Amino acid sequence: MLDDSFITGLPKAELHLHIEGSLEPEQMFAFARRNRISIPFDSVEAIRAAYSFGNLQDFLDIYYQGADVLRTERDFHDLALAYFRRVHADGVTHAEIFFDPQTHTARGIPFQVAADGLCAGMAAAQAQLGITSKLILCFLRHLDEGDAFETLAMAEPWFDQIAAVGLDSSELGHPPSKFSRVFAAAASAGLKRVAHAGEEGPPEYVREALDVLGIDRLDHGNRAMEDEGLITRLVRQGTTLTVCPLSNHKLCVVDDLADHPIAAMLKRGMRATINSDDPAYFGGYLADNYRAVAPLLDRGAMITLARNSFLGSFLSDAEVNAQLARIDAFVAADATA
Ligand code: ADE
Ligand code: ZN
Repeated sequence: MLDDSFITGLPKAELHLHIEGSLEPEQMFAFARRNRISIPFDSVEAIRAAYSFGNLQDFLDIYYQGADVLRTERDFHDLALAYFRRVHADGVTHAEIFFDPQTHTARGIPFQVAADGLCAGMAAAQAQLGITSKLILCFLRHLDEGDAFETLAMAEPWFDQIAAVGLDSSELGHPPSKFSRVFAAAASAGLKRVAHAGEEGPPEYVREALDVLGIDRLDHGNRAMEDEGLITRLVRQGTTLTVCPLSNHKLCVVDDLADHPIAAMLKRGMRATINSDDPAYFGGYLADNYRAVAPLLDRGAMITLARNSFLGSFLSDAEVNAQLARIDAFVAADATA
């Protein structure tokens, strides 16, 4: 059994984190109070009791409702900084975080409020904690292409602060190809591309994300394991998968964490990483996700996961090498081996 200090001490990146999904029930109350809005819960316990999901859509309904308390730049700043403070204790040295601007613009909260608030929180995390980060703009796939194009246009003044576009929300019935043109426009603007695919959707959606959207990284990708040809291709291309164990369990993507495919992915040579997705809703931050799969993996595999998190990041080669050197130094000094 791995010592817990090994899991928390290992330098690592988080590559799949929805910042709106880091909204803790206590924060929900605090933001509601200071913004003078009411929420349909009367206690933190009542909120937590509502976090029982049969599938992705059950979760999304409550997640979008929760985001309604985010109204001001200060809210977005505080949300981001609170996330970075928590994962600082988990050994996170770099994070690439998603935000869902359409969840906010649809409620009349300007794009600028979310973007500037998050960028300020990210800058504070670097200054106060030494954690570097990048921002990824996700399009909500249940909305139409026109809405995604409007969002991309709104984002233009922030393009130098946005590393990539992504695709999230309800997967089934909304294949990646629905967004082929907006992803092409984002690529032309110099943005990288990621997409959720193969969380609930079939292997065909993963193929579309690769072939039609031209993704640089695959979010989830669990169902790629049903398709031998796809596995071979992901290994050959060295595609990074951002896998989210506690999310997979809470959203019934896997029935039992003991059967999680992470060990099989690594054994096949896939570049898999561990991530938290929506930690406030799924019961754990990044180290909790490493802990959740630790019984399935040995020490070497844990080191591989941490290395993969930097190799799959959008950091420069020099920055990746510096982070890998931090892992090497930690492993060399680790007394628990
Ligand atoms: N938005 C937030 N979390 C998500 C997930 N796991 N899948 C799709 N959309 C999401
Ligand atoms: Zn996600």
